[in-house]
Amino acid sequence: MLLSQKERDTLFVLFGAGGDLSQRLIVPALFSLYQDELLPPRFHLYCVGRSDYSDEALAAHFFEGLNRYSTGSVSKKQWHEFASQIEYLQGDILQDKVYDTLNKTLRKKEKQWQGTAEIIFYMATPPSLFKPIASALGNAGLAGDREHTRIVVEKPVGHDLASFQEINQALSSVFEEDQVFRIDHYLGKETVQNILAFRFANPMFEPIWNRRYIDHVAITVAETLGVENRGIYYEKAGALRDMVQNHLLQLLSLVAMEPPVVYDANDVRNKKCDVLHALRPIPTDAVDVLAARGQYYAGWINGERVRAYCDEGGVAPHSNTETFAALKLHVDNWRWQGVPFYLRTGKRLEAKVSEISIRFRDVPHKSFPASYGLNEQPARLVIQIAPQEGIVLKFMAKEPGSQLRLRPVNMRFCYNEAFETRSPGAYETLIRDVMLGDATLFMRGDQVESAWRQITPVLEVWEANPAVDFPNYAAGSWGPESATMLVAQDGKNWLAPTLSKKGDCVR
Ligand code: BG6
Repeated sequence: MLLSQKERDTLFVLFGAGGDLSQRLIVPALFSLYQDELLPPRFHLYCVGRSDYSDEALAAHFFEGLNRYSTGSVSKKQWHEFASQIEYLQGDILQDKVYDTLNKTLRKKEKQWQGTAEIIFYMATPPSLFKPIASALGNAGLAGDREHTRIVVEKPVGHDLASFQEINQALSSVFEEDQVFRIDHYLGKETVQNILAFRFANPMFEPIWNRRYIDHVAITVAETLGVENRGIYYEKAGALRDMVQNHLLQLLSLVAMEPPVVYDANDVRNKKCDVLHALRPIPTDAVDVLAARGQYYAGWINGERVRAYCDEGGVAPHSNTETFAALKLHVDNWRWQGVPFYLRTGKRLEAKVSEISIRFRDVPHKSFPASYGLNEQPARLVIQIAPQEGIVLKFMAKEPGSQLRLRPVNMRFCYNEAFETRSPGAYETLIRDVMLGDATLFMRGDQVESAWRQITPVLEVWEANPAVDFPNYAAGSWGPESATMLVAQDGKNWLAPTLSKKGDCVR
């Protein structure tokens, strides 16, 4: 049973506190929760790291990040109140000493509070440190309280299937599965959570949500940003590991899953896992037909000249890392047999847009001649995740006038029009759920494993056969020619994203 927020004294231990993720996302999310009075009254943030910080210097570093990245207003007074709960524990996280200190510090706080606190260990570190930190927490006796202790790990968990299994094994030798919260921040986005509400809280979509009415599903997660200051990380990751293995496959699972019996962590995650199990494996000799990769060269984005991937900091001059990946997948079950799922993601594309496009089948018989405009736009439903947040149904309508002309029109639901409250950021939602012990929006170990398994043949083939055409797309375009071919070979095309420059839901 979930306890109320007030009952939970919380000790939040942040590993990798000096890193970018802590400054950019985690601390701003905690502060936002504080401002919204969603942190427990007794809360303390212990930051663990190697750099030389005083409590004040670390707080100042976080405050700078807050001003730079936070979208909400930052009240200095509230920040000072919040910052008084930040304490820095300097030490080498590969040495036992820091865990002894941590143990004593946490116990002292619990004694002062006169009770058992919820203890959250948050790994804002590279995945290579998950294993040693988890083992050290276990050895220090810090992981044993199953009810009150949780560990949070960021994606990507591992670098491939084998390293995921190794890390997972290390986590599960110390923590029970229900103590492990694997974050995929896409699952915390309001628009992503809404996929299940849309599908399962309304009676009219489920009957047509299948192979009989749906021609194909296209999932696009496009970014205009390059790799920023993450070149070193990105060189080892690439688009397939960084985005497809997690965010895009999670989106696919939500679109394709069966209705859960109850909305809880087990049932929702079981149904999502069923989808991943049903994904048709990609044979290594079909990778060229079922996957496409790209890397950007210099180009223009929003009127600004941007450099090629290979000229970014931390990137090898002849890098073979893909900054764009597209896949064609099939879900082998009754509902989806024969319906292709096309996934694409890339850096430095023409626009920042994340959306899922459900393309309906054509009408079985065309009563209107083509000259009436029927073929202009196929009927489709678009779930807009970002930057527009909403749902758009595109269908054909008759243009006013004595002549019969058909034209595509939009029916739309737009978050900021329908609801006047601010949507919480993904990290706020997810961190709050960790504090409440609710794992519904987190990835279970078996899901992550299936996702790695699915992309393994592509990873292996791409690694063994460096791309001969890199760089193969201009920054500011929609990606390489091979991605167009991926869908064109099935007689389809990537439909234009439903973007609007004005910030409303549709063009
Ligand atoms: C992260 C990736 O998980 O998601 C980044 O590591 C990417 O490379 C980011 O930029 C995109 O997230 P969003 O929420 O901006 O779409």
